[in-house]
Amino acid sequence: MILGVETSCDETAVALVTPDGEIRANVVASQADLHARYGGVVPEVASRRHLELVGPVLSEALARAEAELEDVDAVAVTRGPGLIGALLVGLSAAKALAWSRRLPLVPVDHLHGHVAALYLQPDPVDPPFLCLLATGGHTLLLDVRERSGFRVLGGTLDDAAGEAFDKGARLLGLGYPGGAALDRAAESGDADAYPFPVARVPGLDFSFSGLKTALLYAVRELSPEELVRRRADLAASYQKAIVRALVERAKAAAEEIGARRVAVVGGVAANSALRAALPEAALATLALCTDNAAMIASAARYARPIPYPEYLALDAYASAA
Ligand code: KG4
Ligand code: ZN
Repeated sequence: MILGVETSCDETAVALVTPDGEIRANVVASQADLHARYGGVVPEVASRRHLELVGPVLSEALARAEAELEDVDAVAVTRGPGLIGALLVGLSAAKALAWSRRLPLVPVDHLHGHVAALYLQPDPVDPPFLCLLATGGHTLLLDVRERSGFRVLGGTLDDAAGEAFDKGARLLGLGYPGGAALDRAAESGDADAYPFPVARVPGLDFSFSGLKTALLYAVRELSPEELVRRRADLAASYQKAIVRALVERAKAAAEEIGARRVAVVGGVAANSALRAALPEAALATLALCTDNAAMIASAARYARPIPYPEYLALDAYASAA
């Protein structure tokens, strides 16, 4: 079995996955509540919490898989991109585990991990496909032709899609992280109430900062009582603009590379309007869309292992090169 470790942001996660992609355990301890009072992830707080949680989460994953460390053949870990202090906690834990049992260590790119969520059982998706990867930190269009990697076709020029959802939710007083709350608020709203703009940037890139400003101006016009009354309409219109930008660009990218299939991964794939707008798309289950370690163990199956003990000096990286 492959033991995966993920600590790039505010989820402490450990999973056990078989070489053919069967998930034996997938434990995720979210720190969202801890960071909510600050309205965003506080890196130093996240690192310290990872340190407290990584041991118990590992024990829980082994218990759920009814496995022992002896059953582990390789340790996979997110090396980046992410919060550097948070990454280092997972990387150090993974190194220690691998080293103590003389196992190989497989460093995994977090974005490759998100895509590799699609390769897990019971319904693995096979390349080629166009992949929209939309998380709190990234919005990318990827040309995926093999399980070991991808080619980047486009990305965001400013905010990530998840970040746009979170910032919008904050402006609407929906708390943090607000993507899911905004999705829920939008359910009872009229998506055509506000004509929010979809930025037209050339090529296959995205831009969400203008949209966020448009929402800010719309909110400023309203008294607190009016805001409560119009919240659902604002949420629905704002969500519609983000989803439209994502869907339009994903379709254009698929056409450009001649992909017959579109897949969506990352936390924003949980969005109900996005799912409805791409009914044919391959989607990972909700639990595998948001950060988890099963996707990291899955990606490790197609990444290069570093043999014992050559990985002791391996470093994490905060952003993609
Ligand atoms: O992939 P993920 O768990 O973490 C990162 O790697 O960033 O994505 C988290 C992002 C957050 O911005 C969150 O607000 C957003 O995904 N998200 C949603 C929904 N559920 C989570 N955005 C829109 N609608 C949702 N239902
Ligand atoms: Zn992620």
